[in-house]
Amino acid sequence: MPVITCVEDLKRIYKRRAPRMFYDYAESGSWTEQTFRENTTDFQDIHLRQRVAIDMAGRSTKSRMIGQDVAMPVALAPVGLTGMQCADGEIKAARAAEKFGVPYTLSTMSICSIEDVAEHTSKPFWLQVYTLKDDDFMKRLFDRAKAAKCSAAVITVDLQMLGQRHKDLKNGLSAPPKLTVKSVANMMTKVQWGLGMLGTKRRFFGNIVGHAKGVADPSSLSTWTAEAFDESLDWDRIREFRKMWDGPLIIKGIIDPRDALEALNVGADAIIVSNHGGRQLDGALSSIRALPAIMDAVGDKIEVHLDSGIRSGQDVLKALALGAKGTYIGRAYVYGLGAMGEAGVTKALEIIHKELEVSMALCGHTDVTKVDRDILMIPRDFSDRWQ
Ligand SMILES: Cc1cc2nc3c(=O)[nH]c(=O)nc-3n(C[C@H](O)[C@H](O)[C@H](O)COP(=O)(O)O)c2cc1C
Repeated sequence: MPVITCVEDLKRIYKRRAPRMFYDYAESGSWTEQTFRENTTDFQDIHLRQRVAIDMAGRSTKSRMIGQDVAMPVALAPVGLTGMQCADGEIKAARAAEKFGVPYTLSTMSICSIEDVAEHTSKPFWLQVYTLKDDDFMKRLFDRAKAAKCSAAVITVDLQMLGQRHKDLKNGLSAPPKLTVKSVANMMTKVQWGLGMLGTKRRFFGNIVGHAKGVADPSSLSTWTAEAFDESLDWDRIREFRKMWDGPLIIKGIIDPRDALEALNVGADAIIVSNHGGRQLDGALSSIRALPAIMDAVGDKIEVHLDSGIRSGQDVLKALALGAKGTYIGRAYVYGLGAMGEAGVTKALEIIHKELEVSMALCGHTDVTKVDRDILMIPRDFSDRWQ
C-alpha cells in the first residue's frame, strides 16, 4: 500500500481505479475550465502569516454549522453519481462523515436513495435539492427528506441548466454506464470497481427512478436536466420551496453579493458561496475571490459557507479566516472514495483535519472558531481587481 500524505495522492490512486467515464465526470469543469482551475490557484494567491512562541497546546477544530456540532467546519458536498465512483458510494461517504463527525450532503442525483442512506446510517444527513418543474416530485422529495430525518435541505440554485463539460458528452456519461466497445474495454481494466458494481443493486438514480414521471432516458444526466429541471426558477419559486421545508435551509451556488441578499430575504439559514466546482458558468469568479464582497454584504446577517477548489486544510483555514463559518469538499472526498471506498473518504477527512490543525497552530491559534483575517496575507487587489 502506498504512503498517502495528501489529497493529490488519493487522486492518483482514484484515477487508476475508477472507469475513465466517471473520473472524467468528476475531474472536469465547464468549457475551457478556467473557473475550475482558478478555484484552486486563487487559494494559492493567499499566504499565511506565521507566528512563533505562542502556546499551541490544547488545539480544537470543533465548531458549529447551522447550529449543529461539527468535528471541523468541513462538510461533504453533494456529488451526483457518487455511487458510480464506487459501489454504494453515497452510503460509504455518509458513514465516513458520520464517524468523523462532519455533515454529509446527499445529492438529488445520487445513486443510493434518501431511504437507503438513512437505513445505513445512524445520524441525520443533509439533502441537496435540485429545483425541478414537477411540483408533486418536489413536495414528495421534501416529505421523503422529513421522513428520513434529514437535518437540513440544501437548495442548489446555480443549475437551472447544465453547464457543458466536453468530456461527459464525448464519453456518453450515463448511470448505469452504456456498454460501448470503448467503455467496456476501459471497465474491464477496473477489476475492483467492477466486482463492487456486480455486488450491488444500486446502479440507477435512486431518488429519481420510480419517483419522477415523464423523462425519456433517466439514465442520462444531460437528458434529465434538460427535460426535468426548471429553467424558469426565480426567487418566488424558491420561496415556495421554503414553505415546503420548515427545517434548516441552505442556499447553494451564490457568487454575487446581490444574490446573497436575495437568499437572505427568502429566509435561508445559510448560503454556500460556490460556483459548483467550476462546472457551471465558465469564467465566473472563483469562490474564494468572491467571498470577501459577499461577507461585506451579508456576513453579519446570515451564516456564510464556501466550497469550490478546497483540496487541503490550508484552503479551509483561508476560507474561515475570510469569514466563512463552514466549508465543503467535493472532489477531495470523491478522490478518496474512488481510491479506497469508505476508508478513502476517512483518509481525505483525516488529511484535511491534520493540515487545518497544524496550519492553524503555526499561525498562532488553537481554536478554529477564533481564526480571523489577521492570519492572512492577501494581495491588495485580490477581491476588487475588476469593476
Ligand atoms: C462530480 C461532481 C458532481 C456534483 N454533483 C452535484 C450535485 O448533484 N448537486 C450539487 O448541488 N452540486 C454538485 N456538485 C458540486 C459540489 O457540490 C461542490 O459545489 C463542488 O464539488 C465543490 O468544488 P470542489 O469539487 O472543487 O470541492 C458536483 C461536483 C462534482 C465534482
